[in-house]
Amino acid sequence: MSRPIRVVFLGPPGAGKGTQAKVLETRYAARQISTGDILRANLAAGSALGLKAKTYMDAGELVPDDVVIGMMEAELGGLPSFILDGFPRTVAQAEALDALLVKLDRPLTGVLLFDADRATLTERLTGRWTNPRNGRTYHAVFNPPRVAGICDEDGGPLVQRPDDTHDVVVERLAEYDKKTAPLIGYYAATGLLKRIDGLQSIEAVTADVLAALDDRNEAA
Ligand code: AP5
Ligand code: MG
Repeated sequence: MSRPIRVVFLGPPGAGKGTQAKVLETRYAARQISTGDILRANLAAGSALGLKAKTYMDAGELVPDDVVIGMMEAELGGLPSFILDGFPRTVAQAEALDALLVKLDRPLTGVLLFDADRATLTERLTGRWTNPRNGRTYHAVFNPPRVAGICDEDGGPLVQRPDDTHDVVVERLAEYDKKTAPLIGYYAATGLLKRIDGLQSIEAVTADVLAALDDRNEAA
């Protein structure tokens, strides 16, 4: 099955956006575009963009809108199917995305909001292990790799993100409440928003995501 999907994954840090985006990428032949992964790759490469983003990311703050919007314009052109994971994160970013998609004549087909309570989000993030080469994430308890510290997929080492410490997670959640949560009303008004209970098992969340996307595509 490979219908075009153009979806936004919305939700606080740790809600499972990246985990589910990886599952959908294969199923729908859609590209996951994770602003966090792109910023971290820039940081690792020592690019000007990465250096600009570093202080904000280290502190758990959002990177300024103009930096992220410019970066996304370059990413989105020509893609028939995509999963936006972690973008938009402010109303200004959402407005810029709308304008860009009108220009490309590729409207969004859905917006999924993942959520979970704060204690769960914190537990997930502080126990997360990441493969910086392919963006795959694991969890020490909830989703362990076959061999501790090693990615199932490429056999390379897993790392803990520097912003997954307890104190930075608190900041990231506060940034979400202040700057990103207003997007729930923004997208509810478009009729595209569907809520997904992110507290369930990874497999149960995937089942709900697939149902939500199929409904949306059939209704379109
Ligand atoms: P980013 O990399 O996007 O991080 P985030 O939004 O803080 O979200 P996470 O990746 O931490 O959470 P997730 O929902 O993807 O969870 P995951 O699936 O990994 O952004 C990082 C930084 O970059 C930002 O702080 C900001 O500075 C900057 N930035 C990025 N985008 C920006 C933008 N648009 N504008 C401005 N600045 C931007 O799951 C988490 C853990 O839980 C994993 O260990 C996983 O295995 C586990 N897990 C997942 N689902 C389940 C489940 N159902 N049950 C049990 N465990 C689960
Ligand atoms: Mg993520």
